[in-house]
Amino acid sequence: MSSTVLDLAVIEGDGIGHEVVPQGLRVLEAALEGSGIEVRTTGYDLGAGRWHRTGETLTDQDMEALAQHDAIVLGAVGDPDVPSGVLERGLLLKLRFGFDHFVNLRPTRLVPGVSSPLADPGEVDFLVVREGTEGPYVGNGGAMRVGTDLEVATEVSLNTAVGVERVVRYAFAQAERRRKKLTLVHKHNVLVHAGHLWRRIVERVGAEHPDVAVDYAHVDAATIYMVTDPSRFDVIVTDNLFGDILTDLAAAIGGGIGLAASANINPTGDFPSMFEPVHGSAPDIAGQGLADPTATVLSVALLLDHLGHAEAAGRVRAAVDADLAVRADLGARSTSEVGNALVAAVRSA
Ligand code: NAI
Ligand code: MG
Repeated sequence: MSSTVLDLAVIEGDGIGHEVVPQGLRVLEAALEGSGIEVRTTGYDLGAGRWHRTGETLTDQDMEALAQHDAIVLGAVGDPDVPSGVLERGLLLKLRFGFDHFVNLRPTRLVPGVSSPLADPGEVDFLVVREGTEGPYVGNGGAMRVGTDLEVATEVSLNTAVGVERVVRYAFAQAERRRKKLTLVHKHNVLVHAGHLWRRIVERVGAEHPDVAVDYAHVDAATIYMVTDPSRFDVIVTDNLFGDILTDLAAAIGGGIGLAASANINPTGDFPSMFEPVHGSAPDIAGQGLADPTATVLSVALLLDHLGHAEAAGRVRAAVDADLAVRADLGARSTSEVGNALVAAVRSA
């Protein structure tokens, strides 16, 4: 990882993906200027555009090619004319499962200058560590007698001891580097099988981290705390579905979808990890230069962290903080104007 070339696969995807990803890459290059690390990028044509033209979502050949890179930067995929599920299952989940992205990291930090829909949010700085390869998202189900009154549909949540333990260990390691608090979010009063597996593993791994305070919240209660008392959270560890829902709420309280970053991480390094804004392709504003590239830029900071360039990641975050602090005074800016400001701020940080 300390090699002098950073070899990135770039999937701009669709819609505003074409606008925000180039800005993210500019900031990445600015952050590594003078480090001796050369950024090399290879673009991949994947998403709704390709699907409309060819009917392909993600071929085995694509997977093999992507697997050769150090990391993947993804904008967003989708448009209103692709049926629901085609790209989610055939592309996004295929990448996350195929590359064993068992950690989905989603930080929320409310920085000065950014307004939150919460009247009195207090200090908001937490990290959701969402399991990425199990739970109800594995496609373990089926349907029969579809469309009849007797239709049956199942969607079985899959949880393995190995799968839970590895993400829980990752979450404790993050808590050790932060404020040393970890909250398990589940629903073990009702989902007793999966819930108690998670609870027992958190207790067992927690015994190895006596300095990390551990607590628990049912997922429904967690939505209340996230709105009424978000400061209570440092690291949250949770399953795939709860994490998906909770992090949309987190993005909303943390200043909105234009700021929400994420990382799909394969901590073993067997496969490239993938960094993407939480938002989608935003067809309502695509092509107009209106998209905020900040979520992509913050995803790039996660990429730098993951590949061991913590100092550069810190400068990217400082640049974003500085930009957000003055944003209210600047009025509307285009995607590239925000990119310009961030590049300049990274260079001077
Ligand atoms: P969306 O996130 O694309 O847009 C929701 C709203 O937020 C829209 O009003 C949009 O204009 C706004 N928005 C999103 N990103 C923004 C940014 N960077 N700056 C300013 N405003 C921004 O979600 P939506 O509309 O539900 O989905 C649109 C398409 O994106 C669909 O095809 C969907 O399947 C896909 N999608 C893809 C994702 C991915 O690639 N990971 C994630 C979510 C949706
Ligand atoms: Mg989601």
